[in-house]
Amino acid sequence: MEVVSDTFEDLPPPVHVAIIMDGNGRWAKARGLPRVAGHKRGAEAVRTAVESCKSIGIKYLTLYAFSSENWKRPATEVDDLMGLLRHYLSREIKQLDKSGVCLRCIGEREGLAKDIIRLIEDAEEKTRHNTELTLQIAVNYGGQNEILNACRSIAREVADGKLSVDGIDDDTFTSHLHTAGVPDPDLLIRTSGEKRLSNFLLWQSAYAELVFVDTLWPDFSKDELIRVIDEFHSRDRRYGNSSG
Ligand code: FPP
Repeated sequence: MEVVSDTFEDLPPPVHVAIIMDGNGRWAKARGLPRVAGHKRGAEAVRTAVESCKSIGIKYLTLYAFSSENWKRPATEVDDLMGLLRHYLSREIKQLDKSGVCLRCIGEREGLAKDIIRLIEDAEEKTRHNTELTLQIAVNYGGQNEILNACRSIAREVADGKLSVDGIDDDTFTSHLHTAGVPDPDLLIRTSGEKRLSNFLLWQSAYAELVFVDTLWPDFSKDELIRVIDEFHSRDRRYGNSSG
């Protein structure tokens, strides 16, 4: 078996990794199981990803758990996904806190069940001083909506005379996004072979390296993450500059 090293020959790991966790349904279908079984294994892969990121030294991990478009799925599947989130927020927060993880949820709170909102608020409050890894879970999240809301809020500040039109810059804008205070992702991974952003971190991913892997999310392992980071290290990040 191939031995995978996570030292990256002294190259620093990406600071912020964002993941579109895709392929739970296909993982289940391939085994003749109901979709919920794929989501359950997907939730286990979340635990693996958090542990892997911590041990590699990644400081921010953002996971796309439920998009604002996912409400269109059958009610039973939405319930299953919300149930898994509830379980994660209530049962695992102690362990996350103990291991130094700061948890934040990005996305619209409106539309979520009241008990889930409470669990999110409790988890955020309990873990807010932790510095090992910031885990952002995107729930009821849509990038276009996030940008529209930022525009509305900035427009309101201009109308109230708190901000001038010429005073609107990059920093003003990013401070109005759900991810305020978190650096933009360096690396954005999508599993399952699909090659789309699906409304995820549209503003924030302007200079992210995109890596698409065929592995279905429930099978995404630490070794695979290390391989993706090796690929990230092989890229020439120029931020609009010319090549050397
Ligand atoms: C996409 O796979 C996955 C989702 C829409 C949900 C992701 C949720 C989890 C990994 C579990 C819960 C998360 C947490 C944080 C506890 P898909 O269902 O679209 O797969 P398919 O394209 O193969 O049908």
